[in-house]
Amino acid sequence: MSMNDQSPCVPTHVAIIMDGNGRWASQRGLPRFEGHRRGVESLRRTITAAEALGIRYLTVFSFSSENWRRPMPEIAELMGLLRRFIRNDLADLHARNVRIRVIGVDDGLSPDIIALLDDAEKLTASNTGLTFVVAFNYGSRREMTDAVRSLAEEVASGRLKPSDITEEMFAARLDTVGIPDPDLVIRTSGEQRLSNFLLWQASYSELVFSPVLWPDFGHEALVAAIDEYRQRDRRFGGLSAAMGGSR
Ligand code: FPP
Repeated sequence: MSMNDQSPCVPTHVAIIMDGNGRWASQRGLPRFEGHRRGVESLRRTITAAEALGIRYLTVFSFSSENWRRPMPEIAELMGLLRRFIRNDLADLHARNVRIRVIGVDDGLSPDIIALLDDAEKLTASNTGLTFVVAFNYGSRREMTDAVRSLAEEVASGRLKPSDITEEMFAARLDTVGIPDPDLVIRTSGEQRLSNFLLWQASYSELVFSPVLWPDFGHEALVAAIDEYRQRDRRFGGLSAAMGGSR
């Protein structure tokens, strides 16, 4: 199919749960690490595809708060892959006008990783191309709990009345402040869960569960997911356009 910057049906924000690296590797008798390593290649392909398709925001779940439960060597491998990805690809992404945003917390991350992520955000802050959002050490419940704490502190200090709290004030305290909600959330590998990913932000997102294992993902699988998205009738709780709804 042909899809380009002009297509009105391209989602503005696509968020992806990159799943299936371990299964891809074990199907081939390879160590899990090889699946993650190939997963970085898929990530590169997917960023390029998102740019080509005219997607404005691409968010990827790279390391969840729950991934700390994995064996220490696997955690170290994932940290190493992030380090190498930023070191190898940052200059190229910057040259392509990609803006990098990181969501998640610093707690538990080594100082060099924190510095790499901070530097990547700072270097690319005023770029105007694709916004690439890296969810690293991210968990939605933690993010929402932090937002509640921030509002509670303002109430406790007398600056805010509980009755004045709005959805917008809550959203403004999430890691994703300034980023539009995802139109489409894709999870690869056939699993059908959100796993603590963008739970507030995905309230009205279309969910597409791709059977493709993440190391096999790329332009073609992304286009297939967007095709499925385009066939959906997004109503946001209202009526469909065919029934006279306005959205
Ligand atoms: C899920 O596969 C994938 C992850 C937990 C990590 C995702 C990470 C990458 C794609 C590479 C890292 C890239 C950067 C830039 C940090 P899984 O291991 O849960 O697969 P399984 O369910 O088949 O075991």
